[in-house]
Amino acid sequence: MLPFLLSLAGCGGGDSPTAAPTPVPTPTPGPLYTEVAPLRDAAASAGRLVGAAVYSSGLAGDPTYAAAASRHFNSLTAEWEMKWDPVETTPGVYDFSGGDAIVAFAEAHGMRVKGHALVWHGATPQWVESLSPPELRIAFEDHIRTVAGHYRGRVYAWDVVNEAIDDAASGLRSTVFSRGLGPDYVAEAFRLARKADPGAELVYNDYGGEGLNRKSNDVYDLVKDLKQRGLVDGVGLQMHISAAGFPAAAEIAANVDRLADLGLQVNISEMDVRVRDVAGDQAAKLQKQRQVYRDVVAACVAQPRCEAVTLWGFTDAHSWIDGAFGPDDPLLFDDQYRAKPAFYGVEDAFLRR
Ligand code: XIL
Repeated sequence: MLPFLLSLAGCGGGDSPTAAPTPVPTPTPGPLYTEVAPLRDAAASAGRLVGAAVYSSGLAGDPTYAAAASRHFNSLTAEWEMKWDPVETTPGVYDFSGGDAIVAFAEAHGMRVKGHALVWHGATPQWVESLSPPELRIAFEDHIRTVAGHYRGRVYAWDVVNEAIDDAASGLRSTVFSRGLGPDYVAEAFRLARKADPGAELVYNDYGGEGLNRKSNDVYDLVKDLKQRGLVDGVGLQMHISAAGFPAAAEIAANVDRLADLGLQVNISEMDVRVRDVAGDQAAKLQKQRQVYRDVVAACVAQPRCEAVTLWGFTDAHSWIDGAFGPDDPLLFDDQYRAKPAFYGVEDAFLRR
């Protein structure tokens, strides 16, 4: 029985000796993931990719997770397993097993793969942090060459540099790369990736610059310069947002449009929508979440150069948000893989409703 009904039964029983369980907000149960039309068909009808970040252990070990991923998405991204830390935990010893499994799953199900991410301070192995600048340069070049070379022809795009812009002040974030290699490390990463996989779309990816603000202006300036030098092909807007406060849809659309006007491909790269701070009961939160998903995905569908929307997971049973921001329900399917209102928000946007 649903907890909500249990609590009602407890209240109404009169002579029931047991205390009523604490009522927990119960979302309107939606249909199972098998009972809703594949989202990838809706995306394809709009000429778009709809992607999800995944773990290889889920694809291999959890049949429901794997079936939901292949039914609803036409693109995959490794949530963790293609980053520097897992790929080269020990210097010079490469382990591609996780990423390879994700690529194999995608190929078996007619899905594309976006590589993520070659250079990110947030997933750099410990040993890299202690290298001298000349050693760092060698490791950096070897890493990009080896990883982008390994996946050459099997990923359609790479997030080459992730989160390089500072949050507090204009310019680059201070990281092991900016300190050891100097500010040109960003351009250098793109040059190395281009050489290693000339067919891949090379993307700059960041968060907090989805709408119009200082950070999105900095991202704009960075990619404009890289584009003029022929180094970058696309830009990813992560879109980890809260339905309680997020950039206005018109601002997101204006930002997507100005990036596209540079001749760049744009993609929404890591979308999830937190609801815990939204006012009202769970049903109200989920309706608000539906609207946010719809409006953001619609901004992508409205811009011909916005080619993909990737969600940072798909079931609330597995989301990084719970660990990073506190318990939440940020994705399209609930813990039991039932379609939430958010699912229909994304579907509506792809179907231009
Ligand atoms: C996160 C994953 O979701 C976590 O599982 C992992 O522990 C850390 O990385 N921005 C990014 C992503 O570009 O790579 C991050 O993914 C989330 C924030």
